[in-house]
Amino acid sequence: MPSAQQKLSWVIVGQGAIGLLAACRLQQAAYPVALWLRQPNALTVTLETATTKTTCQFAPAQKPLRQLFIAVKAYAVAECLTQLSTELSPDAQLVISHNGMPDLAYLQSVAASAQGIWFLSTSHAALRTADSVLHTGQGQSILSPLNNAARQAESAIVAAMTEALGPVQLTADIRPALWRKLAVNAVINPLTALHNCRNGELVSAAFTAQIARLIAEVCQLAALEHIELELQQTKAHVYQVMQATAQNYSSMQQDRYYQRPLEIDAITGFIIRTASKHQLAVPENQALWEALQQVTSPQSPQP
Ligand code: PAF
Repeated sequence: MPSAQQKLSWVIVGQGAIGLLAACRLQQAAYPVALWLRQPNALTVTLETATTKTTCQFAPAQKPLRQLFIAVKAYAVAECLTQLSTELSPDAQLVISHNGMPDLAYLQSVAASAQGIWFLSTSHAALRTADSVLHTGQGQSILSPLNNAARQAESAIVAAMTEALGPVQLTADIRPALWRKLAVNAVINPLTALHNCRNGELVSAAFTAQIARLIAEVCQLAALEHIELELQQTKAHVYQVMQATAQNYSSMQQDRYYQRPLEIDAITGFIIRTASKHQLAVPENQALWEALQQVTSPQSPQP
């Protein structure tokens, strides 16, 4: 593995908001970046921040694939990794990122012994439109190597991910961070999808009691999983993300709006399944799950 200074080339898998945000930011930092595309055509994307607009051009990736940032929906990870398995170099490094709870044991099991596997959880917010990606909320990321081959490549991967979605905090145990993010996504994503609204609208008093109950259920469940998720701190964190991404449409609102499958199974579904393992009632999450099963794409235009 070359040193961080040599700027490894990266392949981005998944052209959603976070994948393209990472792609553009890596390219801006002079990393060679290509996209894993179904069609062998180049892709041009404009990255818009509050103050800048930059056009980025990406070529299709050449095999074998070495450094990969895989930002596909939670429900698409297994199929994606199966498809990629024959395209990877024997020493590939795979950084996986999605909302919801990943199956870390499964991720560890898919990499060959010399292939590094990582999970990255990010609080950056972005919105994908037809030909651009808007960086709508500055965030940070938690990055964890999930096997030895990853730990051996640490400095180069951390350097690249710092450019892509930094600042990056490296951790040996990503589970507490995943639970913190789960609490955020368990509130913002299903509620914005159900009510077809921006993240910031959830700050309204109309949602306060429901949000408090949702968070309390997640914190209670975390304790049963031996994860410390303090109630008031978690509540403050959820509201802080809501405010920091107030103008954003959440990924689940967008998925519902564009009639794509929702990532609800890895978020609310994970909470309900894990709670049932502990015989814990999570009625507020259960009700939200049921409400989302019943809705179709919103009839009204996006506000
Ligand atoms: O899924 C999303 O949209 C994001 O994780 C978040 C943080 C809720 C911001 O919109």
